[in-house]
Amino acid sequence: MVKITQVTAFIAASALSVAAVDVCFYSNTLGCSGTAGCCNNLAVNLCCGPAASGLGFSIKYIGLPDITTGQAWSGDRCSPASTGIRTFQNGPGDRCWTGGGLRAASGAWTFGTGGRVANSSNTTSTECQGFNAFKYSDAQGIEQTIQIGGGGPSFEELQALYVAGNLSALDALKDN
Ligand SMILES: *[C@@H]1O[C@H](CO)[C@@H](O)[C@H](O)[C@H]1NC(C)=O
Ligand SMILES: *[C@@H]1O[C@H](CO)[C@@H](O)[C@H](O)[C@H]1NC(C)=O
Ligand SMILES: *[C@@H]1O[C@H](CO)[C@@H](O)[C@H](O)[C@H]1NC(C)=O
Repeated sequence: MVKITQVTAFIAASALSVAAVDVCFYSNTLGCSGTAGCCNNLAVNLCCGPAASGLGFSIKYIGLPDITTGQAWSGDRCSPASTGIRTFQNGPGDRCWTGGGLRAASGAWTFGTGGRVANSSNTTSTECQGFNAFKYSDAQGIEQTIQIGGGGPSFEELQALYVAGNLSALDALKDN
């Protein structure tokens, strides 16, 4: 019984690691740094957005599977197609797109390696995922993550703590 449970858990974990990518929208243009709002465990072809207005000057796609592309749009729901940005961020691995001043308001990841943006499969408002994690650099410059949701502070409240320089309040909420 224990063994079956372990095998099931292993399969579930493996399937998750293959099928989900963390997509983080950063406040800084340079190198995916500063605070970020993230759609962690984002499923393929699901839109992450709309990003808070100060975010999206760079985007980190974490854990892209092989033969995939991290995509971005200046439109806030991965649409319309004319707002698609040629990111050229191909998996496997972690990739950081920087806009050079251009801001992306939504993102997704999809199979295929073309730099060309395809429509995200379905981009009606109900199908966009909002941020479920907040990232910031602590006093030591180490990036920390705080889950959003479940009755805890919202993205805006966490961002306000960061802007106020209240890192101790953020450190009390971080994951580890
Ligand atoms: C993208 O979506 C638009 C609007 O739904 C459609 O007109 C266009 O043909 C689509 N493009 C691709 C490449 O699927
Ligand atoms: C998008 O959603 C519509 C309606 O729910 C569905 O008919 C269509 O097949 C979906 N398109 C893709 C590419 O998944
Ligand atoms: C930091 O935030 C916490 C929680 O909101 C608050 O209790 C505390 O007074 C704040 N500290 C400062 C220095 O603003």
